[in-house]
Amino acid sequence: ESTLAAAAQQSGRYFGTAIAAGKLGDQQYTTIANREFDMITAENEMKIDATEPNRGQFNFSAGDRIYNWAVQNGKRVRGHTLAWHNQQPGWMQSLSGGNLRQAMIDHINGVMGHYRGKIYAWDVVNEAYADGNSGGRRDSNLQRTGNDWIEVAFRTAAAADPSAKLCYNDYNIDNWSWAKTQGVYNMVRDFKQRGVPIHCVGLQSHFNSNSPYNSNYRTTIQSFAALGVDVQITELDIQGGSATTYANVVNDCLAVPRCTGITVWGVRDSDSWLGAGASALLFDGNGNKKAAYNSVLNALNNA
Ligand code: G3I
Repeated sequence: ESTLAAAAQQSGRYFGTAIAAGKLGDQQYTTIANREFDMITAENEMKIDATEPNRGQFNFSAGDRIYNWAVQNGKRVRGHTLAWHNQQPGWMQSLSGGNLRQAMIDHINGVMGHYRGKIYAWDVVNEAYADGNSGGRRDSNLQRTGNDWIEVAFRTAAAADPSAKLCYNDYNIDNWSWAKTQGVYNMVRDFKQRGVPIHCVGLQSHFNSNSPYNSNYRTTIQSFAALGVDVQITELDIQGGSATTYANVVNDCLAVPRCTGITVWGVRDSDSWLGAGASALLFDGNGNKKAAYNSVLNALNNA
């Protein structure tokens, strides 16, 4: 096959990217995105600040532009993200306690209600675990509402859209030996044991010199999958753009049946949140395929 999406489909997987609504008028960008990818994540447009700028007043204009572009082009959509300490609108940042907990629940119901039946998987909770060696939760206004905030978010989400897969999504949970990975693993195991609805774990997989790809990544994917959840690689980028590392990531996913798809976090290097100089994606700033692109395509085709 000659595109990432078609190559991934050979094993029943998807290959996605993050899309920015402000770039949908860039023809080079949309041409590549439409040709190569079959799963779309809004880079910012379905986040809390974008969708509920004032409490109880929802705005889906930018999110819907991305959703409609994706569906009109035959693609599925991952929803990103419903409960997160970051990119909260000002009104939410200033809430605490039961008031914040209720706002989180209302937000999940509002956004998932709007997209009910239309989203492949939602990142229900994003980045709730702490970096470093604690293996525990990150401090945040949401965490200070009580340790059960994550399971409340998942139970709310399950009722709001029973057709969406519900994911926990985080970065630096790629390396099996890291405490943060083990913390999230223990949470997912606990949720599965107690029947808290969770269907997938998103490994963001932002690889750089401080959190490099490690060959135990496959163990991480296998271990989460063995708990009875899908694993999705949700925000892949590799600082420096090593073709070998890209191939390793793809092969590790392909080795695990429940690793169901891969999303790269942007189209061209110039679209990356890391800046073009990071060379972290599969297309250069002129829209040309990089060595990493060919490496990923070959890995998918050789599965
Ligand atoms: O849209 C405004 C623009 O009007 C303003 O002039 C400009 C000035 O700073 O800011 C623009 O907003 C920026 C937005 O991206 C759109 O470009 C924000 O400042 C900037 O903070 C925001 O960054 C996003 C970041 O999440 C924020 O947390 C990145 O685009 C986005 O790629 C990044 O994605 C996250 C995932 O959601 C979660 N995992 C990590 C990943 C990378 O940080």
